[in-house]
Amino acid sequence: MSFRSPGAVVDLSRKFGCDPEDLLELARLARKLGIPVRGLSFHVGSQAADPSKHVEAIEVCAKLMAKARKEKLGTFDTLDIGGGYPIEYGQKVADIGRFCAPIRAALAKLPARIRVIAEPGRYICGPAAIGVASVMGRAKREGHWWYYLDDGLYGSYSGQLFDHAKYPVESLKQGGETFPSVLAGPTCDSIDVIGENLMLPQLKAGDLIVGRAMGAYTWASASEFNFFPKATVVTVNRKPGDRGSVVPLPF
Ligand SMILES: Cc1ncc(COP(=O)(O)O)c(C=O)c1O
Repeated sequence: MSFRSPGAVVDLSRKFGCDPEDLLELARLARKLGIPVRGLSFHVGSQAADPSKHVEAIEVCAKLMAKARKEKLGTFDTLDIGGGYPIEYGQKVADIGRFCAPIRAALAKLPARIRVIAEPGRYICGPAAIGVASVMGRAKREGHWWYYLDDGLYGSYSGQLFDHAKYPVESLKQGGETFPSVLAGPTCDSIDVIGENLMLPQLKAGDLIVGRAMGAYTWASASEFNFFPKATVVTVNRKPGDRGSVVPLPF
């Protein structure tokens, strides 16, 4: 189902999904063709600004499912409410409990026979990963330090283009005087800049830059443009009390 959401950072209903007013006609066609329909699904857009679209979509789907069931167009016992739950990059977002309260209230009004599925993506894996890049070189240009990293907009930071995210970055080296700095990726392209006007300590080759909340829509859209390899993905499993282990993933 399509529920346009200009308030979301990524409006996923622009390209796919059936308009609510076309649903019954489509379900009638499915019945005619012998295609069993279990229910409806929607995704109101990623990094949603607020839960109002989720609530609207649940209410509209509930009405349509009741009508479709009455016409015996399918079982219509499943509702997939997609993802969209926002996480913090640079800016504060609503706490997940508060964000979901109106969604839970809308779901509570559904008939008990309806099975609800959700597909949270970013909320689960976004904060679970950090990006670690190292300084490969530096230059002073127009009074600013430029640091050229081994990762950039064509790599893990591709989400800054495709996902419109701005990852909070910091230098692992802290303390001392800071200077206006630019963090740039390694490729030849001038758009390959991660951040400008950042106040950073003076860095040298080998120093590390850490990007936060980089577990969603980052590595997936990275390329190897200019033959710079994609970042190596490692998992760090740490239980309370143990020293942790680093396991490279097989890709
Ligand atoms: C079909 C589908 N489900 C779930 C998700 C996860 O969405 P989010 O990361 O906004 O929670 C996406 C993201 O593109 C998607 O296309």
